[in-house]
Amino acid sequence: MVLNKEKLDLGGLKIPKHVAVIMDGNGRWAKKRMLPRQAGHRAGVENLREIIDSCIEFNIEILTIYAFSTENWTRPESEVRGLMRIFARVLDQEIYDLHDQGVRVSHIGDLNGVAPLLQEKVNRAIELTKGNDRLLLNVAFNYGGRAEIVHATRRILADGLSPDDLDEETFGKYLFTAGVPDPDLLIRTSGEYRISNFLIWQAAYSEYYLTPVYWPDFGRAELYEALVSYTGRDRRFGALAT
Ligand code: FPP
Repeated sequence: MVLNKEKLDLGGLKIPKHVAVIMDGNGRWAKKRMLPRQAGHRAGVENLREIIDSCIEFNIEILTIYAFSTENWTRPESEVRGLMRIFARVLDQEIYDLHDQGVRVSHIGDLNGVAPLLQEKVNRAIELTKGNDRLLLNVAFNYGGRAEIVHATRRILADGLSPDDLDEETFGKYLFTAGVPDPDLLIRTSGEYRISNFLIWQAAYSEYYLTPVYWPDFGRAELYEALVSYTGRDRRFGALAT
């Protein structure tokens, strides 16, 4: 059965090229329903499908998602294992649908320290989808913003750049996001008001959209609301209003 999607008026909306999302609140969503946390993560993945579809529908070009931070390893081992199982399943199964939809998958973060089999699956997904151009899905996995900056700095030193050669543009080329424009809109669900080490360089001038809605409930209509809010923003990048 095909459900009729509520018609949303995109006329007059300013569409951000790059949306970044901190998908928070899976655990609380599950707790509210007296379900195990893993059920919340599963619901989170289902919702991610809806958001990917919606990004394509709304002509958003880049979606960066915070899937697993360098700090998430400190969660109970059973939860980490559960999350890894989910990532493996998505990379094994859903990747073909994503490929058919024209999604190009890329990764930011450090794949070292991730199980070799999972590394292989990530690399296979990147290779399979590399020719697609409908939506760039940038997955932050084993990612931390400070670690990214240290990693970039080490490479800059290893390349022997002189202090005079270094400016913001050059520095950006050493980040995991090299070549990808900075996020225009950064969304965080679940009512938390912090950046949690996500894209701390790249989000310097992003517009923030913070909502109390838990990630599994942040669907197409909520993304649309975020776009409405973004449309009303006056982005000045530090300059005066014109
Ligand atoms: C935050 O909820 C969510 C995570 C740490 C994991 C997010 C991962 C997914 C939604 C899986 C989808 C990703 C891919 C690439 C398949 P939380 O556990 O911190 O919730 P809480 O703050 O309510 O406890």
